[in-house]
Amino acid sequence: MSVSTLATAPSVCAPLPVLGRDVTVPLVTGGEVTYAALDYAASAPALQRVWDDVAAYAPYYGSVHRGAGYLSQLSTDLFENARRTVAEFLDCRAGDQVVFTRSTTDSLNLLAAALPAGCQVFVFETEHHAALLPWRGARVTYLDAPSSPRQAVEMLERALADRDPYGPALVCVTGASNVTGELWPVRELAAAAHAHGARIVLDAAQLAPHHPVSVADLDVDWVAFSGHKLYAPFGSGVLAGRADWLREAEPYLAGGGASRKVSRREDGGVDVEWHESAARHEAGSPNVIGAYAIASACKALTEAGFDTLVAREQYLIEKVRAGLAEVPEVRILSLFGDDAPRVGVLSFVVDGWNSSHFAAALSAEYGIGVRDGLFCAHPLVRTLLGSDPQTQGECGAPEAAPGERSLNAIRVSFGAGTPDEHVERFLRAVKELVADGARWSYRTEDGRCVPDTSA
Ligand SMILES: Cc1ncc(COP(=O)(O)O)c(C=O)c1O
Repeated sequence: MSVSTLATAPSVCAPLPVLGRDVTVPLVTGGEVTYAALDYAASAPALQRVWDDVAAYAPYYGSVHRGAGYLSQLSTDLFENARRTVAEFLDCRAGDQVVFTRSTTDSLNLLAAALPAGCQVFVFETEHHAALLPWRGARVTYLDAPSSPRQAVEMLERALADRDPYGPALVCVTGASNVTGELWPVRELAAAAHAHGARIVLDAAQLAPHHPVSVADLDVDWVAFSGHKLYAPFGSGVLAGRADWLREAEPYLAGGGASRKVSRREDGGVDVEWHESAARHEAGSPNVIGAYAIASACKALTEAGFDTLVAREQYLIEKVRAGLAEVPEVRILSLFGDDAPRVGVLSFVVDGWNSSHFAAALSAEYGIGVRDGLFCAHPLVRTLLGSDPQTQGECGAPEAAPGERSLNAIRVSFGAGTPDEHVERFLRAVKELVADGARWSYRTEDGRCVPDTSA
């Protein structure tokens, strides 16, 4: 089925029930409207199923790995089963480890702390800061933004060909951009990395909520993602993949849970035997509810069926693209071109509008939550906007005259819980704002654009 046939389908399938779907918010112009959450790329609403599972477990909550009591044992089983569910969801290889972390940022920092000595890291400048910045102890090669998936692979191959062939190396790449939503050629990049003796970690923060991720099939060495973007906002994330570097590294945090045996030495010091399993990097009391919630989301998405979810999301993407294409003042940001495959994440600028002003008006006048700014991917957004790194947009008066460059962008993002109405309201709002302007006046407060209610 092609994307264009999907766009004309009346409805591909119903959205999955999420929390907050009936929440109403006040409009500055008067009245209330149901909130249209179109910022899934930042944090997606919890799936109702995840919430129900967590609520059902909550009375049985107990300490993990420590207690002799029934609820402790039950919670320990639940936590370890969650690990198995995530391993299945990611189609991990035998011997891979699943470490529960706090988030993608935490997962990538954990891997950065586990790099072998002398490791070289290769990362595109287009990455989210969580993937761009953790490699502080390593020699890092930053690759420029490619203009096509094919060029990305060629650039990586060239960079790897120049590396020290005997030392360890790691490539870090996103599966789907948090700015453009575009899919990256992960399998090809993994093949290039391996052909040059390097390893690869996939930042699946934006991919895992939208597409199935198979560690085995993509042949990536590690994958990282966050629960709160996968409809499970309970403070957990995942790093899954090869055990060797993790097993050989110092524990990420030192403390109980990570240590198997601690004894005083005769010289007065302390000897520690660290676990070799995932527990090595999970010191302290684990977030069992967070892990359970992620496992619940993995099951819910798998049971709903990614084929169905992807078909619905593609239908919404096509609807948004077609609607925005009717507004000549709107420019969608893209590295790989208009027709590049993508997830439900689109960033754009509007000629004659400051993006913060536009986003504030979408919220205050239409009850629509999007995001504006540089999306923790400053180099990428500035490359896409062609803007000067030193300049910053101000709210209030339109910042860029028609044809001029904006300094930040607006991002609309959606997923499994998004009803058609949210997308339709968004498109109507964009058209009205561009045609008629905002109905309210706005000012800057603490760096945010807010409706001016002083008049
Ligand atoms: C592609 C990508 N990677 C990493 C992150 C960091 O995720 P978290 O904030 O959950 O650590 C984000 C968050 O937006 C992201 O979009």
